[in-house]
Amino acid sequence: MWADWVALFIRWFHVIAGIAWIGASFYFIWLDNNLRQPPQWKKDKGIKGDLWAVHGGGFYEVAKYEYGPEQIPKTLHWFKWEAYATWLSGMLLLIWMYYLGAEAYLIDPGVKAMEASTAISLGLGFIFGGLFIYEIACRSPLAKSAGLFAVFLVLFLSLSAWLATQWFSGRGAYIHVGALIGTIMAGNVFFTIIPSQRKLVQAVTDKEPIDPQWGAGAKLRSVHNNYLTLPIIFLMISNHYPMTYQHPQSWLVLVAIAAVSAWIRHFFNLRHIGIVRPSILITGAIGMLFIAIWVSKPQTTPVQTSVESAPTIPVNQDIMALMQKHCSNCHSETPSDDIFVVAPLGLKLDNWSQVIQWAPRIHHRVSVTKDMPFLNKTEMTEEERQKITDWYHEAIRK
Ligand code: HEC
Repeated sequence: MWADWVALFIRWFHVIAGIAWIGASFYFIWLDNNLRQPPQWKKDKGIKGDLWAVHGGGFYEVAKYEYGPEQIPKTLHWFKWEAYATWLSGMLLLIWMYYLGAEAYLIDPGVKAMEASTAISLGLGFIFGGLFIYEIACRSPLAKSAGLFAVFLVLFLSLSAWLATQWFSGRGAYIHVGALIGTIMAGNVFFTIIPSQRKLVQAVTDKEPIDPQWGAGAKLRSVHNNYLTLPIIFLMISNHYPMTYQHPQSWLVLVAIAAVSAWIRHFFNLRHIGIVRPSILITGAIGMLFIAIWVSKPQTTPVQTSVESAPTIPVNQDIMALMQKHCSNCHSETPSDDIFVVAPLGLKLDNWSQVIQWAPRIHHRVSVTKDMPFLNKTEMTEEERQKITDWYHEAIRK
C-alpha cells in the first residue's frame, strides 16, 4: 500500500515541477516575442526591449538589455531548478514504477522476454546513449543548418521509438522515449544554457566583451526544448491511452503525434513574432484526425502477443477461470466490454503467463484495494477475492 503513496508523492511533485519548468519556459518565449522598442531614455541605458504587463492587481515593467546591465544585481534569478527538479523526480518515478516493478511494467514477454536487470540496463543505456548521440550531433557541423538538424531529430526520434518498442512493453517504450526527450531537455539546460549564462554573467562582472557565440549556442538548445514541449507532454500522458502504445505500429503512432504536435508548436512560435499562419493549425488538425482514424481502424492481422513460454508457477485452472469470468472482458487482446475496447493500461489476462506477469498487481487490486474489477462491473464476490488472496500467498509469495 505504502508503495502507492510513495508513487503518488513523487508523481505529484514531478507534475508540479514540470508545470513550473514548462510554464517558465513558455513565459520567457512569450516575453521575448512581445518586447517592443523602448523609449530613448531606456535605450541610452542599453535596454533593447520594453514590455508592460498587468497581472494579479499590479503593473510590471520588464526590460531586456542588449548586452547586460552595468553591474550584476545582488539578486539574479536563474530558472534552472525547475528543470533539474523535473528531471530528478522523473527519473525517481521511472525507477520506482518501471525499474522496481520491471516484471509488470517494463517487460512484456510478448515483445521480448528478458531478466529485470537486462531490461533496466537497456533502459538506462537507451536514455543516456540517446543523450550522448544528441550532444555529439549538436556539436557537429549538422547543427549549422536548422533544416538538416530538424531532419536528423525526426530520424533520431523515429529510430529511438522503434528501438524502444522492440525491447519494452508498450507503456515502457513510450515512457522511455519520454524520458530520453526529458533528459535531452534537462541536459540542454545543464550542459549548455546555464554554462553560457555563467559566462555571460562573468563577462558583465569583469566588464569584458560578450562573445555572441555563447548566446547562439544557448539559443539553439532553447529552440529545441521549445519544440519538444508538446511531444513530451503527450508522452507523459500517453499512459492513459492504450490505443496509442498498444498499437501494432506504436512507434509510428508516437512519431506521427510528436511530429504533428511540434508542427502545432511552430504555429505559436510564428504567431508570437506576428506571423499568423492558420494553414499550420488546419494541416495539424487534419494530421491528428488522420492519426486518430488510422489508429482506430480495426486491425486486420491480429497481433501475436500470446506467450506460451511456460512460467514456472503451475497453472491454476480456478484462477484462470476467475480471470475469464471477471477480468478478460476488459483485460484482453479482444475486450468485449462496451466501454473499454482496448485493454486498459495494455494489461491483458488472456493466458497464464500474463496472469503470472501481473500476479502482484492483480492481488493488490483485487484483494487489497479491492477496486478491480473496475467498479465491480463483473460483480466479483468476497469469496472469489479470497481465492485470489489464498492463491497469491500459496503460489506466488511462498
Ligand atoms: C470494466 C473493465 C474492467 C474490468 C472488468 C477489470 N478491469 Fe482492471 N482495469 C480497468 C481499467 C480502466 C484500469 C485502469 C485504471 C486503473 O488503474 O484504475 C484497470 C487497471 C487494472 C490494473 C492496474 C495495473 C496497475 O499497474 O496497477 C490491474 C492489476 C487490474 N486492472 C486488474 C484487474 C483484474 C485482476 C480484474 C478482474 C478481477 C480486472 N482488472 C477487471 C478496467 C477493468
